[in-house]
Formats: sequence, C-alpha cells, structure tokens
Amino acid sequence: MSSESVALQAENISVSYGPVHVLKHVSLRLMVGECVSLIGPNGAGKTTLMGALSGGVPVTGGRVLLNGQDVTAWRAEKRARAGIGRSFQTTHLFPTLTTLENVYLAVQAREGTNAWDYLRRVRKRLLDEAESRLEQVQLTAHRDKPSGTLSHGDKRKLEVAMLLALKPNVLLLDEPTAGMAVSEVPGMLQLIDALKAQRAYAMVLVEHKMDVVMQLSDRIVVLHQGQVLAEGEPDEMMHNADVAQAYLGGRHETRA
Ligand SMILES: Nc1ncnc2c1ncn2[C@@H]1O[C@H](COP(=O)(O)OP(=O)(O)OP(=O)(O)O)[C@@H](O)[C@H]1O
Ligand SMILES: [Mg+2]
Repeated sequence: MSSESVALQAENISVSYGPVHVLKHVSLRLMVGECVSLIGPNGAGKTTLMGALSGGVPVTGGRVLLNGQDVTAWRAEKRARAGIGRSFQTTHLFPTLTTLENVYLAVQAREGTNAWDYLRRVRKRLLDEAESRLEQVQLTAHRDKPSGTLSHGDKRKLEVAMLLALKPNVLLLDEPTAGMAVSEVPGMLQLIDALKAQRAYAMVLVEHKMDVVMQLSDRIVVLHQGQVLAEGEPDEMMHNADVAQAYLGGRHETRA
C-alpha cells in the first residue's frame, strides 16, 4: 500500500485523565475509501479515540496525521475544516430550527460568512446544496419541520447530512444507530453503505451491533482497556479467542 493512500493515522496515542490512563499507545491506520470498525466493550476507550482523532480530546502522547500532515496540535474546528468529520454518540442539533435550516447552517459554517454572503445569490447556492444534502439522506419530506420533532432515526440522518455538508474526507461515526428503533436501523445502514460505496471517504465506525459491523467493515480494530487488542478482517476477528474473551461480561447492546 502506498503511503499516499493513508487518509488518517494515529501513532501511539495516549489519553489520560489525571492518573487514569484511558488510551495507552493506540495506533491506527485508515486508508482512503476504507471502512474500519472500532469495537470493544463499554468503557474500552472508543469514543475517547474518536475524540483524539477529531481534536475534541487532547492527547497526552502520540501523533495524529491527516493525509500525512501532523494535526496533533490542531483544534477540532481546524481539523474539521481540513476534512475530519465527526458524528457524536448523542445528537447535536438545533431543535427549533427546521431540518433544512440545520443543514444550511452546516453548509454556511463550511463556507465561512461575512456580511456580503447574505446576498441572495450566495444564499441560494448554499440553500441548494443544503437541499441536496437532505435528499442524500432521504429527509426531503421533512425539510420544513423543526428538527426537534423528527424521529430519533431521522435526527441521526440529519446529523449525517450536516456532517457531509462540511465536505469531509474522513468520517468518524460514533454509534450511528444508537438509540434507534429497530425499524429505523436499515435506513441508516443503507446510508452508510452508500457513502462507503463512493469510496471517497475513509470511515471509522464505532458500533456495538455485530451484524452491522460484519456488514460494513473492511477491517475491524478491537479496543480493550485502552489498548488495541487485535485487528484484522471481520471473519478473522469473529473467530479470535482474545476478542471473544474481552467481550465476556463486557459487551452489551444498550442504546440499541
Ligand atoms: N472526561 C473524562 N474524564 C474522566 N474519565 C473519562 C472521561 N471520558 C471518558 N472517561 C473514561 O474513559 C474510559 C473510556 O471511555 P469511552 O467513553 O471512550 O469508552 P467507550 O469505549 O466509548 O464506551 P461505550 O461503548 O460505553 O460508548 C471510561 O472508563 C470512561 O469513564
Ligand atoms: Mg462510546
């Protein structure tokens, strides 16, 4: 594999909260177009690693490289502008604004604004893009509803639309199906699958539902007590004795 096709790399990442070492020398390499699932029992450090990659969580050791560039010292906003898009385990929306307005704000945030940006022509272009993002996640029918009134599953889709509006090349998806009704899960999976099929994004997916992981992952990284326990192809990981052991008593599917 050539080094040019590495999208995101974590080298020996450590994160500590006071005396508590939450991540211990975690390394991860994500290729362009690849979907890597990050799995592990509750408290393993998955969300913390997503934070370390996106810049929301300061690291106490190691480096994060985006397209070969060291971004470890960059704040989350700068990393987002450079292409690292992150969704959260819980939703982050403006509930009183409409579905479309939420996406519009994300598009506007990407473009940056000044007083002249409110000129009609610019606004129209941004609105058109917001509409097409909504279409991409199949929420056009809900465009004028306050986002707070959407179903949980649709809120998560809206979040993905807002994420895509930032034109990322790395997508960090933290439990995108968490809290969804069973009937809503296939819609989100279809959406992730469609994004994956474009091969334009490098994705890290944190997910507890193993059928989802098996369906979507090119590779699986297993995190346990803040360390990489194993990594490999999905079939290989499913038959790995260490992985099975780590999950005993630890795995559950809350928020499922
Ligand atoms: N801000 C913080 N301060 C102190 N400890 C924290 C903080 N954030 C996370 N931790 C601890 O770090 C460990 C890893 O948490 P993290 O949320 O990364 O786990 P996770 O693998 O995402 O778990 P889950 O599957 O439940 O989402 C946990 O023991 C947690 O209590
Ligand atoms: Mg988590």
